[in-house]
Amino acid sequence: MNAFSSPGRKRSAEEKLNMLVEFGARISCELRLDKLLDIIAQQISTMLDVGRCTVYLTDNNTHELWSKIARGKGLEHTEIRVPLHGSGIISVVARTGKTINLANAYEDPRFSMDVDMVTDFRTRSMLAVPLKNNSGQVLGVFQVANKADGSPFDKHDEGILLLLATLAGSAIEIAKLYQDIHVSQLETIYRLAVTAEYRDQQDTRSHLKNISIISYLLALAMGLSKKEAELIKNASPLHDIGKVALADNILLKPGKLTPEEFEIMKSHTIYGGRILEGAHSKVLQTAHKMSLYHHEKWNGKGYPKGLKGEEIPLEARILTIADVFDALCVFRVYKKAWPTSEAYAYILEESGKSFDPRCVEAFKRIYPSVRKLYAHLSVNQPGYKEEKSEAPSQTQLVPPKTITTPHHKLP
Ligand code: C2E
Ligand code: SIN
Ligand code: SIN
Ligand code: FE
Repeated sequence: MNAFSSPGRKRSAEEKLNMLVEFGARISCELRLDKLLDIIAQQISTMLDVGRCTVYLTDNNTHELWSKIARGKGLEHTEIRVPLHGSGIISVVARTGKTINLANAYEDPRFSMDVDMVTDFRTRSMLAVPLKNNSGQVLGVFQVANKADGSPFDKHDEGILLLLATLAGSAIEIAKLYQDIHVSQLETIYRLAVTAEYRDQQDTRSHLKNISIISYLLALAMGLSKKEAELIKNASPLHDIGKVALADNILLKPGKLTPEEFEIMKSHTIYGGRILEGAHSKVLQTAHKMSLYHHEKWNGKGYPKGLKGEEIPLEARILTIADVFDALCVFRVYKKAWPTSEAYAYILEESGKSFDPRCVEAFKRIYPSVRKLYAHLSVNQPGYKEEKSEAPSQTQLVPPKTITTPHHKLP
């Protein structure tokens, strides 16, 4: 139930206590910051019948207070940022750690009308309390405005908002720490992947991005949960990490590899497997399966182990379609870019041979979205297979690397 649509009604003390207990339980097991802020804002709106509720968090990097989750007119899905050292109410509460309760906000010289102006809202009564962690550090500000019955906020409202802030404080702190770790883990993975792809890719970023988007869509289309699909998405950039072990004269060879060279090339799966072996994190465990098995084929004719059918981990069966489709659509030193329609036809053709037929069926369903990812490429790529393009395009990619230098030797 949304508090904005319900008329203000009095709740019994027991009812409120139950709500608080339930709230405490719900937030204590929520590690996703976005979700947590959403639950908190919802709870505040429900317990205090108000026209607007905003949860601000401090961002110590930018010295700002920001709010993503804001409920009420004009604020749905809006991000607001106010300077921590500003003179507005929110900034003052964050700096002093003291509650501010205004019966008529516009009469207080500290009140900044910026947010109201941007969101076409008229704040009347307003209550803002600090959000603190266990050691009393201010993490942000809870703000509510315009009590539904038109009266100013009273001591009782202050008490409830402070209580909610106290309950939420440590949950928010934990979620923030968790998010920081998660973000830095993904950053590290991504940079590691860029390192591996750096030498033989024209456009590492879009290559890694496209493969991870396709894997994610495929995983969802295969019926995996959002969580599993995200794991696959985040792990996918590492699938070719084993290429770091290959010498330039093989990895960057402009023409066809000899059978001997291809044997060496195949070892990138084994190296990848070794690099990621025994990892503790789920994302690296997923990356391990992908890097080791992404060149296995459904019919058993792939490498390195010749696994067949469902012996191949699902993650790898998904990734291989994304990898091959992307490899075909773009330029490589050894091959021209194929038109997406031909790459698509190839994937369908290889159903039951290279690829899991169920994954190919899923790929068909997501293809309309996949095609859009490559729409801007096609004719603008160097070495495009059909070579139809006459006028050079603005979005031309950089020309292929010249492979004339002898490969690097360590001193
Ligand atoms: P990659 O360039 O990322 O290609 C990944 C996979 O996409 C290939 O795995 C293959 O299944 C598919 N693929 C790429 N280009 C083509 C193509 O023109 N035709 C067809 N039918 N499939 C294609 P594969 O073959 O196991 O190769 C693994 C890696 O070995 C490739 O990764 C690439 O780095 C390298 N490689 C393969 N063939 C050659 C080659 O002739 N010359 C050079 N320099 N490298 C090659
Ligand atoms: C203020 O910081 O002065 C109030 C801004 C708001 O309405 O959120
Ligand atoms: C997996 O999630 O890797 C196993 C599921 C499957 O092979 O279908
Ligand atoms: Fe590979």
